[in-house]
Amino acid sequence: MASWNHKHIIDLAAFSLEDYQNVLELANRFKALPKSGARKLPALQGRFIAILFFEPSTRTRTSFEIAAKRLSADVQTFSASTSSLTKGETPLDTALTYVAMGADTLVIRHSSSGVPEQIAKSLEKAGKKTAILNGGDGLHSHPSQALLDLFTLVNFFEPSKPDIKSIKGKRIAIVGDILHSRVARSNLWSLTGCGADVILCGPKSLLPNDFVDFVSSPPPGQLIDPIKNRGKVMISRSLKETLQQSDAVITLRLQKERMNQNLLTNLGSYHREYGISRRILQNFRKEIPVLHPGPVNRGIEISSELLDDQSICLTQEQVKNGIPIRMALLYLLMA
Ligand code: NCD
Repeated sequence: MASWNHKHIIDLAAFSLEDYQNVLELANRFKALPKSGARKLPALQGRFIAILFFEPSTRTRTSFEIAAKRLSADVQTFSASTSSLTKGETPLDTALTYVAMGADTLVIRHSSSGVPEQIAKSLEKAGKKTAILNGGDGLHSHPSQALLDLFTLVNFFEPSKPDIKSIKGKRIAIVGDILHSRVARSNLWSLTGCGADVILCGPKSLLPNDFVDFVSSPPPGQLIDPIKNRGKVMISRSLKETLQQSDAVITLRLQKERMNQNLLTNLGSYHREYGISRRILQNFRKEIPVLHPGPVNRGIEISSELLDDQSICLTQEQVKNGIPIRMALLYLLMA
């Protein structure tokens, strides 16, 4: 794609409208492939993708593996628990090891914010051409998840063809543990970037105050926001008020492993106040789509009956869409 000029994908702060549209259009073409019988494309034949996950993952890791294989790349997955990390090797040295073995792209997940970016900078300094794709770092960013969420929403609002304009002016609620969510931070960039307004809703202890400013100031080192008119960001503590105004809701997992203190005392009362169920949606006369990045705490963030009703709850559609989105990202970085 002529206008694509990203060497790495670390976060979505530098994405333009054209970038979003390019990714979605390409993903849509890849999504149509299995129906036409051609499940595998030769696009990345002979290229080597290393998936370096220093933190546990089911769907993101598997989805990147499948995406790489559908594009005929060689793929190797690194698992932190069985690696030399246990002998004290740093993530950068692990990355350099895979680069020495010929990796063209590293997909990196790490529990600390900033690790993929640091590795990208160090490899550039060392004169390496390896591309870095962030598979989720600390609380900072999870670009492929936010792009698959965007793809799922755009397809829901306009099933005939993916056009980011279909989300412009819509109100999207992000509910739950926003404080610890790299997904929410990336969702904010992509949704406001495509012109949607976002309502952040959750208990006070899980709602960061600085989020309204988050998308109005470019990150350090980036002087200009490539998007002129971002959607607005609002904050609400009331799920009722939020759902009444929303066209879709993304609810988030309570990420206890990322909390450094116990910020929630009672899961039952969390579910009563912030859990999404069929009854709650009906109360607010709403049949709005419900998304969740997974893994879901069934019965806490989403009620069991709603999770099983995949006509409104789009969690499985999100998982399906993850493959063509990641194919698109790998293709744009490597082909
Ligand atoms: C998310 C993650 O790891 O950031 N999961 C995912 O990648 N699908 C969200 C989470 O951990 O709750």
